[in-house]
Amino acid sequence: MDSAIRSVRGFRIWDSRGRPTVEVEVTLASGIVGRGIAPAGASRGSHEAVDLRDGGEAHGGWGVDHAVSHVDGEIAAALQGRDASDQADCDRILVGLDPTPTKARLGGNSIVATSMAVLDAAARQAGVPTWRHLAAGRSVRMPLPQVQIFGGGAHAGRRTDIQDFLVMPLGAATFDEALVMCADVYRVAGQRMRRRGRLYGVADEGGWWPAFDSNEEALSELAAAIDEAGYRHGEVMICLDIAASEFGRDGRYRLALGEHDFGRDDWIELLIRWIDRYPIVSVEDPVAEDDEAGMKAFTRAVAGRVQVIGDDFLVTSAARVDHAVGIGCCNAVLIKPNQAGTISEAAAALARARDAQWGTIVSARSGETEDVSIMHLALGWDAGQLKVGSFARSERMAKWNEGLRIERGAFPPGAFAGAGALPVGRRPWSGPG
Ligand code: PGA
Ligand code: ZN
Repeated sequence: MDSAIRSVRGFRIWDSRGRPTVEVEVTLASGIVGRGIAPAGASRGSHEAVDLRDGGEAHGGWGVDHAVSHVDGEIAAALQGRDASDQADCDRILVGLDPTPTKARLGGNSIVATSMAVLDAAARQAGVPTWRHLAAGRSVRMPLPQVQIFGGGAHAGRRTDIQDFLVMPLGAATFDEALVMCADVYRVAGQRMRRRGRLYGVADEGGWWPAFDSNEEALSELAAAIDEAGYRHGEVMICLDIAASEFGRDGRYRLALGEHDFGRDDWIELLIRWIDRYPIVSVEDPVAEDDEAGMKAFTRAVAGRVQVIGDDFLVTSAARVDHAVGIGCCNAVLIKPNQAGTISEAAAALARARDAQWGTIVSARSGETEDVSIMHLALGWDAGQLKVGSFARSERMAKWNEGLRIERGAFPPGAFAGAGALPVGRRPWSGPG
């Protein structure tokens, strides 16, 4: 069998923050080699698969020698001879090797890089791009991008409490046009920062460094940049990733910028006031991962007009998606394969969300590499939406550019998810309330 796994090898390479990460090469009986690279988050949910790090002095403790040795040892032994084209079987074996809830023994990083390498090898063996291999004959749509303009929170020394100020080009008809619209807003936002003497470079995902006096100032600057770039609200809308687990605990939300301390209800009220005042169409992790009551209240208040995404709140877990659907929390899920640990587990979480008619957004991490598989997953799974950070730094641009290559290739023109990917009606927005 050509697609039988002959060998699995792990290596230490480096990510976009200059930290070690795990690369895995899977070689098939045919001689074909597939590759996978683990990304790494900075604002991590406490229930996601953990990156196994060596600690100690070398590499500031970020070393992955143990994770790599697990790939070369237990993982390679278990996968040898298995059929790489049977992703579910390979992933089942990986999960079986480390049944801890967060894959803490072998490391989510060694496991996800292996799972991704198996997928890459299988697609290469089949002689098709990964997205087409995943689509398996089903029709799929190019994803609507979510592009970061200002990067704050854990990605910018907590310069702002809110982590991501992003835009979504709802008026675009193609992926290419969508990127042009985002690029325009990104460029203009930078010009505005320069005019005010506040241009200090970029944060971890390439968004402009958020030198603002308040979280709301970033929001109003973003709205102004959309205007100045010549887009009407409705054409380009704002998305926020609050990443509230970074500053919220036990129903209290403590903002460093402005030193405000909110109770749950006041915090949610503030978010809703922003939604009324600015053209916001999507909000991710509005409350902390432990605040189910807050997520339920926020979802109830805004669902129908705003996409409510669970990231740290759902950690790409099918069981957590099911639970959230049952109790009315969120109407969309962020899908990060390394939160789950394997491709199959991530696909299962996405499928559960789709069954509930939620929005599904495939997402990169703040620590990335030249690996572009996230683009293929978003397209091949027909997720409808893709989030890979900003519009600068090549670990981000590699993904966007891969999308352009796919769109201009054999892909049927017009198959762009667009605004229809949102689990909400397109909200007319009539200006500040
Ligand atoms: P992370 O950030 O990769 O640092 O977790 C991305 C996100 O929160 O969506
Ligand atoms: Zn997030």
